[in-house]
Amino acid sequence: MESHAVGSKQKPHAVCVPYPAQGHINPMLKVAKLLHSKGFHVSFVNTIYNHNRLLRSRGPNALDGLPSFQFESIPDGLPETDVEATQHIPTLCESTMKTCLAPFKDLLGRINARDDVPPVSCIVSDGCMSFTLDAAEEFEVPEVLFWTTSACGFSTYLHLYRFIEKGSPLKDESNLTEEQLDTKIDWIPSMKNLKLKDIPSFILTTNPDDIMLNFLIREAERAKRASAIILNTFDDLEHDGVQSIQSMLPPVYSIGPLHLFANREIAEGSDIGQMGSNLWREETKCLDWLDTKSRNSVLYVNFGSLIVMTTKQLVEFAWGLAGSGKEFLWVIRPDLVAGDEAKVPPEFLKETTGRRMLASWCPQEKVLSHPAIGGFLTHSGWNSTLESLSSGVPMVCWPFFAEQQTNCKFTCDEWGVGMKIGGDVKREEVEAVVRELMDGERGRRMREKAEEWQRLAEEATYHKRGSSVVNFETFVTKLLLG
Ligand code: UDX
Repeated sequence: MESHAVGSKQKPHAVCVPYPAQGHINPMLKVAKLLHSKGFHVSFVNTIYNHNRLLRSRGPNALDGLPSFQFESIPDGLPETDVEATQHIPTLCESTMKTCLAPFKDLLGRINARDDVPPVSCIVSDGCMSFTLDAAEEFEVPEVLFWTTSACGFSTYLHLYRFIEKGSPLKDESNLTEEQLDTKIDWIPSMKNLKLKDIPSFILTTNPDDIMLNFLIREAERAKRASAIILNTFDDLEHDGVQSIQSMLPPVYSIGPLHLFANREIAEGSDIGQMGSNLWREETKCLDWLDTKSRNSVLYVNFGSLIVMTTKQLVEFAWGLAGSGKEFLWVIRPDLVAGDEAKVPPEFLKETTGRRMLASWCPQEKVLSHPAIGGFLTHSGWNSTLESLSSGVPMVCWPFFAEQQTNCKFTCDEWGVGMKIGGDVKREEVEAVVRELMDGERGRRMREKAEEWQRLAEEATYHKRGSSVVNFETFVTKLLLG
């Protein structure tokens, strides 16, 4: 039986609250595991909807937890039967913001009433679940906000309000000319080379009451009330971005890449190591397929957990991949296409027989660190970008929404590990850019650069004096144990 005491003292108790989407739950679970490895009792709070999804994707015992690491759940405020609403990010943001505080406070009260767990001593919450700040203040515990974006992405969110103040642009993309999209945005500190098209897509709206635009402005503003901010990035990669955020907010600590950090600290086979967070069932046979392939020969294609594209775009990608002549592993989520089944043309399947593997969800971190993977066609989600860069894998970027545009800009122009393809995807462009990535001189240079970032990412997380290791120790000691 585990004890709740560290020496003669009671264990600190961290309540971890991710935003209810895959790209947020994954890194938060890593933070929770790292806190546990430092002696914390952990309560990990999913929404009921995701709690049930995890039980379906990972098995009925997946969330049994341990006496010192428990999974809890609160409602997201949406009807349980309305799956579409739960997957619709603006609806989900509005609902969590307006309805989650009361059930969250109830949960904290119930936890504190138990005598078999230590009282809650701190909250670590996603930056997009800032209602938790009100609870932290009421329960008089410190709260650390975890913004799961890049520093560059978060920095643009922090400045969205200025676009409104400047009265611009409040037009959707279809109303803007190429020239307007190329307007220089040079007033965000440490980000001198941005254009309007590199700013999070939420700014491109004709509606001043747009839910996402207002939600992000509000959440970014509320970040000032936290005891500290943590980011899944590392100093060598985003030093200037972190410094500029630092000047506007409570202390900011970069503690990533979290997957490397957590993998180093926590044995894969241990009880904690085995806790996973995939909302879809993983298909692991793609790893066996990769084992049969030579080094850097396979392109990995995956557009993350949220993107919904058109059938036309899916078909253009398919024929672009076919035309490239390269071997590829393509993960097509069942809900990847808006209002339709995500199905590729039968002729494409015939033409690419023997050189492709299709799956609906894969263990991405393992895929990206497999030696057979030579490139990644990605939507530039922050987790995917960081996982790729720190595995030494260069990227073709097709940013879709949110701060993916900003991540893409930095991936291509600042970090030298990516090439962008236009939103209106064309098969000829996909074909050319994939060939260049996998076989061309530019691809070779990008791979070399990615390998350099991999080395620096490992240095930040694998060594006792690595910047992310030191930052993690500091924020835990100063804020959560202080
Ligand atoms: C995105 C981005 O996080 C973010 O930048 C933006 O603000 C909102 O949406 P998502 O589409 O989930 O989220 O992308 P990403 O950040 O790349 O996260 C996906 C996570 O799921 C990664 O950790 C990845 O390893 C994992 N994954 C994805 C799998 O394990 N298997 C898959 O097949 C696909």
